[in-house]
Amino acid sequence: MEKRNGFNSKLGFILAAAGSSVGLGNLWSFPYKTSQNGGASFVIVYIISVIVLGSILSIAEVFVGKRAEANAVSAYKKIRKNFGWVGLLSIVIALFITFYYVVLGGYTIKYTVNSFSNNTNTLESFSSNIGLVILYTAIFLIIAVVIISFGVKKGIENASKILMPALIVILIGIVIYCLCLGNGVKEGLNYYLNPDFKALGFKGVLAAMSQAFFSLSTGAGVLLAYGSYAGKDVKIGSSVLWIAFFDTFVALLAGLAIFPAIYHYKAETGIELQNNGIVLLFSSMPIVFGNLGVIGKIVSFLFFGMVSIAAITSVISILEVVSQYLIQRFKLKRVIASTIAATLSFLVSIPIGISLGFELSGKESLRIAGRNLLDVFDLITTSVFIPISCLFLALASGWFMYKYESKKDAFSIKLLSENYKKDGMDLGWFSKIYSFIIKYLAPLLILLIEIFGIVDIIFPKIGDTRVFSLSGLTIELIAISILGLIIFIYFVFLKNKETGNNSDELKTKEKGL
Ligand code: ALA
Repeated sequence: MEKRNGFNSKLGFILAAAGSSVGLGNLWSFPYKTSQNGGASFVIVYIISVIVLGSILSIAEVFVGKRAEANAVSAYKKIRKNFGWVGLLSIVIALFITFYYVVLGGYTIKYTVNSFSNNTNTLESFSSNIGLVILYTAIFLIIAVVIISFGVKKGIENASKILMPALIVILIGIVIYCLCLGNGVKEGLNYYLNPDFKALGFKGVLAAMSQAFFSLSTGAGVLLAYGSYAGKDVKIGSSVLWIAFFDTFVALLAGLAIFPAIYHYKAETGIELQNNGIVLLFSSMPIVFGNLGVIGKIVSFLFFGMVSIAAITSVISILEVVSQYLIQRFKLKRVIASTIAATLSFLVSIPIGISLGFELSGKESLRIAGRNLLDVFDLITTSVFIPISCLFLALASGWFMYKYESKKDAFSIKLLSENYKKDGMDLGWFSKIYSFIIKYLAPLLILLIEIFGIVDIIFPKIGDTRVFSLSGLTIELIAISILGLIIFIYFVFLKNKETGNNSDELKTKEKGL
């Protein structure tokens, strides 16, 4: 009989976490954010962020979950009761991401099934057909809920095992093809690989750091939830490094396909990097496939099929964060909890899908602060929620996880690294470096990037002068107000409540509730 509702093997954990990381973050938002933030300079900051911050914070998050064997709120409460709100923030981040992620997930399913007709004009016709967008969003969510209902072991682990390697093979094939397109490839590569730091700004640095967190699924409670289900023999350090490497590799490959293709077909289609922004993936790739005849239809089917699957394995992990909390806090059955989370995402996704459709067909309706709702949710999540969640993850792990007898002890890297070891996380020679980054470097860097990044969003540079952006200010104020509300809810309603853990979940399961 299965004793625990967890991962079966080390490989299972790695694959499931890689399945969570690799998703629309790599194939949709990485190329589009690169295109909006100066190309190669964004890529460089992104890679540095993955190595110095993303991987380190991912290790920290898995460990917070693993040592608590509980949902995000309970796991942070285990560190210090006053930190429980960070767990609640992670759950809200997970929810916010699903709100817009599922809309794009629906797009990927539509593009897959439409591959055998022609996808070149799908973007306009599909995005403005609200009924169809809602239908495909629902299909996407239903698939995710069915997989999640099978449980962590059977559903998520098995799905990821087949899908991840297949995605890489197809992507490499497409990259090779795009690099051989001829005209424009050099220009595309130049944009992608030749840095222009002036085009980046602090806004771009913040976007690159957040994109690294988003892509690795750090700060959204995913790694915490998966960590809580990881067996004792899962080695956190090496697992996270593999995942980070794999995730970054896929993102870089996506750029290697998209940028040469955009430049190659620029004259023919009029598509420029900037004017495609948010949907670069859905406008550039169909043109490549459309020029390949019958083979293009098959490749399109395989490509968008894989993108759908990558998006599904990511959304499963994000929904798991919410479901795990609902299961443990309210003693709900897994299928009921995931259905509640998915229904909530579905309801909020409807106005987001409509708003994006309006924007793509040139209408300026259903916007907040002059932006479509997808952009608004994305900006709130990535410019404020994720960095703040990661900042407090670093503070909780580096300063508050253990009690110290003297001030000197509290500042000691050596003692912190020994504490981790005693507590079950042995990072070997890397332990002191890890402890230094999590205690000192990460909080400092995230705080500085967050402050300068937000100032840059509110007072963006146009040419050589700074202007005031009411839109930027409005979005940041909304984000900070929601953050305040989350903290308020935690301290008033949750701090002194029992919020459950994995063994409660197992008991509920055994009782067949
Ligand atoms: N980490 C997930 C992705 O990159 C959310 O798509």
